[in-house]
Amino acid sequence: MLKGKNIVIGVTGGIAVYKTLDLVSRLKKLNVNINIIMTSSAQEFVKPLSFQSLSQNYVVTDMFKEPKTWDVEHISLAQKADLFVIAPATANIIGKIANGIADDMLSTTVMATRAPVLIAPAMNTNMYENPIVQNNIERLKQLGYYFIDPASGRLACGDYGRGKLAAPEDIVNEIVKILKTCSKSKDLLGKKVIVTAGPTQEPIDPVRYITNHSSGKMGYSLAEAARKRGAEVILISGPTNLKKPYDIKTVDIVTANDMYEAILNHFDDADIIIKAAAVSDYRPSNISNQKIKKSNFDLDIKLTRNPDILYELGKKKKNKILVGFAAETNDLMNNAIKKVNKKNLDFIVANDLSQQGAGFKEETNIVTIIDKKGKIEKFDKMKKDEVADIILDKIVDLLNQE
Ligand code: PMT
Repeated sequence: MLKGKNIVIGVTGGIAVYKTLDLVSRLKKLNVNINIIMTSSAQEFVKPLSFQSLSQNYVVTDMFKEPKTWDVEHISLAQKADLFVIAPATANIIGKIANGIADDMLSTTVMATRAPVLIAPAMNTNMYENPIVQNNIERLKQLGYYFIDPASGRLACGDYGRGKLAAPEDIVNEIVKILKTCSKSKDLLGKKVIVTAGPTQEPIDPVRYITNHSSGKMGYSLAEAARKRGAEVILISGPTNLKKPYDIKTVDIVTANDMYEAILNHFDDADIIIKAAAVSDYRPSNISNQKIKKSNFDLDIKLTRNPDILYELGKKKKNKILVGFAAETNDLMNNAIKKVNKKNLDFIVANDLSQQGAGFKEETNIVTIIDKKGKIEKFDKMKKDEVADIILDKIVDLLNQE
């Protein structure tokens, strides 16, 4: 995967610079071509010669030194890179990139590149947790920059907490993941994808509602992965605490009926519909205008069936690709298989809520994909953005069969 790739590594000033030497050595063993740019503070910790010896390339340190090649160095490196990595990344470089400051070789080259950029922060915990740094990180994430979180432990300053540079082997794994994602990045170009995410809320009175534990993470991961692969995405989202993804049209809904209406507004033009939302099957038959007062008696709330949105979409899907989820606490496979057939789905993604690391709220999921021909594929526990890519791979396979 990495053989022959050009990776430019920006090294900024921090004690973790020595770990970047290990990173370079690991990448060289995988036959990656490495170019290094060191800031002046990085050179206070390690001499360019160490990086030059390991990378077997001249290390760039100064904007205004006589260039080793005839072209404009920061532009040529920016264009050459398949991937840009900044490790360790100080609060300073993160702040500069987030605010468009380009005043040295590293910041100008990052500014000029169109390659994906992976940032590996390393700094004191208080600095890392400072809201200014966190806002800069968030801003860059929204703009599509990749981050690998720092590890926790004893820091060079003697404090304990988050801020240690991620382990070189984890950075290598992240590099592989990013390059994989980017290599298939445009296989959904020209496709319009509707993704539903999060829970619905069905009001009982002005202050109470029926809902479930969906955080929206699975649906948001799908929406972001589909956008990265070139699709035009419409994210129809129930109430969640997640930040709205950059560059994705998001329609906020509250109830199952709102969700149904929002999908129908975009259904005709859509090629692919993925229903990751956890929709309430029932809603209170009457919504009280006033907060319901407690009394000495039990309270019965009559519930009315909500539309089964997926079932209704299945009736009118024609050649659109329709993907559902099944969240079950028991008899997962039987229930999921029934849903594929009843709802006329191309495939269903079943997650067993009884397993740890699967389903609601978690960062990970454990899924089984069952298609309409009865093919069953089981997957190990993985992060929700990886599950998203597996689902999209399956969709691309179906598109290629058409
Ligand atoms: O949001 P997270 O915290 O990341 O959690 C992810 C998840 C567990 C919510 C997600 O992976 C998931 O399983 N979503 C579907 C949950 C669900 O409602 O499952 P279900 O088995 O009740 O419904 C089956 C399918 O029918 C789903 O695609 C659902 O969107 C759809 N449905 C259900 C009821 C209804 N009235 N209308 C529907 O369209």
